[in-house]
Amino acid sequence: MKVVETRKLKKTYHFGDTEVTALAEVSLDIEEKEFIAVWGPSGSGKSTLCNLIGLLDAPSSGEVLIKGQAATGLSDASRSELRNSSIGFVFQNFNLIPVLTAIENVMLPLQINGVSKELAREKAAALLEEVELKDRMDHRPQKMSGGQQQRVAIARALVTDPLMVLADEPTANLDTYNANLIIDLMRRINHERGAAFLFSTHDDRLLDRVDRRVHLQDGKILSDERVESDSVAQ
Ligand SMILES: Nc1ncnc2c1ncn2[C@@H]1O[C@H](COP(=O)(O)OP(=O)(O)OP(=O)(O)O)[C@@H](O)[C@H]1O
Ligand SMILES: [Mg+2]
Repeated sequence: MKVVETRKLKKTYHFGDTEVTALAEVSLDIEEKEFIAVWGPSGSGKSTLCNLIGLLDAPSSGEVLIKGQAATGLSDASRSELRNSSIGFVFQNFNLIPVLTAIENVMLPLQINGVSKELAREKAAALLEEVELKDRMDHRPQKMSGGQQQRVAIARALVTDPLMVLADEPTANLDTYNANLIIDLMRRINHERGAAFLFSTHDDRLLDRVDRRVHLQDGKILSDERVESDSVAQ
C-alpha cells in the first residue's frame, strides 16, 4: 500500500509581481515501511514538501493522497482526522510543551483523541522505555538535553501508531553524536514497528543510513535513489 502519493505538487509564493517557486510539480510515492531521507541545500523545498505531505499546508496546485485518499477538497475536520490517524510529526525544535513532563508530552496526542488517562500513561511509558528514557519520564523538557528532548518527541510521534513519521530536519539542532543516535533510533523503530519514516536533512553524512534518498534542488527532485538494504548500515 502507498502511504503517501503526491501528484505534481506545486507551491508558489508571490511578492508583488515576483513569483517564488518553493516546490515545482513534485510527484513522489511513499510505500509502507520505507525509510527515506529528503536532502538538499537550504531553500531547496524540504520544509515545503514536508508541510504539504503532512497536510499542514495547502499546495498551489497538485495533490496529496494519504492511504489513497485525496486530501484536497476534504473539510478541515476530515483533513485533520486523516492527518492525526496516519502521520506522526517530529520537528527541528523538538516542540515539546515546556510545562508538561516527558510522559505528559507523550500522553497528550492520545488524550486529545479521547483515550483514558490510564491507558495513555501506560502506552506513553512503554514508548519512553523504547526510546531509553524510562528514568526521565517525570522530567520537564528544559531539564533534558537536545537529544533526549528529540527522543521524547519521537515517542510522542509514535504514540498514536501512525503509518508514517514525518520529521523536518530532526537532527539540525543536535551535535553529530546525537544526530546519529536519533537516526539510528528512527531506523530501529522503522524495523521493529514497520512505521515508514521520511526525514529531511541538509547533512549528507546521514544518507548512508537510509534505504531511499530523494535529492531536492530548487524545488525539484534531482534524483530519487533506492539503496540495496544489504548495504544500509544497521
Ligand atoms: N512562507 C513563505 N513565504 C515565502 N517564501 C517562502 C515561504 N516558505 C518558504 N519560502 C521559499 O520557498 C523556498 C523553499 O523553502 P523551504 O523552507 O521549503 O526550504 P528548505 O529546503 O526547508 O530550507 P532549509 O534547509 O533552510 O530549512 C525558499 O526559496 C523559501 O525562501
Ligand atoms: Mg527547512
